[in-house]
Amino acid sequence: MEKREELHRKAVKKAESRGISTTGEGGYARHVLLCLGTSCCGGEDHREVGRRLDKRLGKLEKEGVYVYRTRVQCLSFCQAGPVLVVYPDGVWYHSVTVEVLDRIIDEHLLGGRVVAEYAFARNPMNETTPARPGGESAS
Ligand code: FES
Repeated sequence: MEKREELHRKAVKKAESRGISTTGEGGYARHVLLCLGTSCCGGEDHREVGRRLDKRLGKLEKEGVYVYRTRVQCLSFCQAGPVLVVYPDGVWYHSVTVEVLDRIIDEHLLGGRVVAEYAFARNPMNETTPARPGGESAS
């Protein structure tokens, strides 16, 4: 039991350090998962998409737009990659190049409009209230 409590404490601390809400209040408004696994894509061009995701979302976070990002090795889809999913919207994109990623960020994440030409599935999750990580101010 003590070990579980210690692991729990460490997990909460790490979540807070990453801006992930541990209370249900605040936290990230969206979570973007980008698959760069070799079964649906590969190569330097795809790695550049990952670097671009980090750069753009890192910059937006400094401006007060909080989108959690995760690079993954498989989304159990394995086709037409790189595949990117935006939650809680549940929008799945295929063929995500750097140019397509910029459109997804500008049009979907910032503008609220799905990039229809690349969106092949829409499976929205629960509604959330956009907020900042940990309820902290952006300044
Ligand atoms: S390797 Fe990308 S979805 Fe499986």
